Amino acid sequence: MVLVDSVTRAGGSVIAHRRSGEQPVGGATVAPTRSPADRATTRPRTGTPPRLAKFHVPEILFGPGSLSEAAHAAVRLGARRPLLVTDPGLCAAGWPTQLGAYLAEAGLVPTVWEGVTPNPKDHEIAAGHVVYREQGCDVIVALGGGSVIDAAKGIALLAGNGGLITDYEGVDRMALPIPPMVMVPSTSGTGADVSQFCIVTDTARNTKITILGRALVPDMSIVDPHLLTTMPDWLNAATGLDALTHGIEAYVSRAHNPLTDHHALQAIALVGEHLERTMDHPAEEAARTCMAQAALEAGLAFTNAILGAAHAMSHQVGGLLDLPHGVINGVLLPHVIRFNAEPDPHRFVPIAQALGLAGDIAPDSDAGAAEAAEWAAVEVRRLADELGVPKGLGEIGVTESDVSVLSAMTLADACLSTNPREADQADIETLFRAAL
Ligand SMILES: NC(=O)c1ccc[n+]([C@@H]2O[C@H](COP(=O)([O-])OP(=O)(O)OC[C@H]3O[C@@H](n4cnc5c(N)ncnc54)[C@H](O)[C@@H]3O)[C@@H](O)[C@H]2O)c1
Ligand SMILES: [Fe+2]
Repeated sequence: MVLVDSVTRAGGSVIAHRRSGEQPVGGATVAPTRSPADRATTRPRTGTPPRLAKFHVPEILFGPGSLSEAAHAAVRLGARRPLLVTDPGLCAAGWPTQLGAYLAEAGLVPTVWEGVTPNPKDHEIAAGHVVYREQGCDVIVALGGGSVIDAAKGIALLAGNGGLITDYEGVDRMALPIPPMVMVPSTSGTGADVSQFCIVTDTARNTKITILGRALVPDMSIVDPHLLTTMPDWLNAATGLDALTHGIEAYVSRAHNPLTDHHALQAIALVGEHLERTMDHPAEEAARTCMAQAALEAGLAFTNAILGAAHAMSHQVGGLLDLPHGVINGVLLPHVIRFNAEPDPHRFVPIAQALGLAGDIAPDSDAGAAEAAEWAAVEVRRLADELGVPKGLGEIGVTESDVSVLSAMTLADACLSTNPREADQADIETLFRAAL
């Protein structure tokens, strides 16, 4: 086992000493990380009363080199003619060719369809569904980032239920079963490979709609950190910030439970320790594996606890301007942390500790907790700065004249319902203006 004693964060003097021997799922050999349990020693003062907790999750295969297992997974799910959904960027990186060969070796006749663009559009899903039917496909295999995986879920949904993808906005709107799905994520961020979410751009309204339903939880997720090595730096940064946003929003969500809390804090700690290292050492397998685990655990947390205002707002900006989801989240997140922590900052203390809060803040008091929450907001912005994320939404094309419409649409987004603090149109407008 490789033991790394310390890591220097890029551009800063933060030295994180790894103490525990905790390993990611799958038992891969990676640099051990401090567990959130080590860091988040202070429990939130206002604990959640015991209540029913549900936790759904696909079968997961995790580890470097696991890509070849996707073919066996498809066979086990009854595939003969799988539809391999991917996109041109992945094709250029070569991964679909490799997976196509594994599928053929397993005796399958795959159809490769690469018609997805980032922030996948409603008409792309309709086109993919036509291909699925024309080719007599039976199982969906997706290889790509969140856009490809969401498009694949959309195709599966239409294959089972018909109609238009925009008919299914909201929660559990599909009535009939959908084809089996094997997901192979190629970015370390979205968690779409384990989630019950499908996010699609409604091109008529220029917004991203959220489709939620447990039927959308894939049958298998195959997480191979090797795939992350061809991500460009901007995508690594953006998707890492997406995973961080998932962890933080899931942890403070109204729908959180002890099972989601564990994964949320673990994801936050892993991003805090390893994202910058993957930027400085892109070929290093250990850090990539930790980021793959971070994205996975963040996905396990948010698919069960749902999200909050940062995502509700981000979906509107992403639909309007077709910009990278994780970058928008990175800009919004510090503002949403401050807004949510204002009435009760205590739940942000374990988040700050998972991110490495120094011991000189005593977070048990109201004032100390407020200080810890502010520290977390500043730390998220520091990380965003290190990664080159724009300071404000204005830099990426949002203007004052967009604020009112973006805010009205945010109020209708399913993710807002689990935000820990009620927010009305005026609150969301204030948040957007602060983030401009
Ligand atoms: N369903 C969910 O639970 C969920 C959660 C969060 C985000 N999302 C959605 O996911 C989408 C964002 O996905 P994303 O950030 O993973 O990026 P993406 O799928 O939009 O991909 C962005 C670009 O990166 C390229 N790319 C991806 N992986 C690569 C690799 N390994 N090597 C080289 N190029 C690669 C793609 O070809 C594409 O051009 C958004 O639409 C967002 O709304 C979904
Ligand atoms: Fe996200």
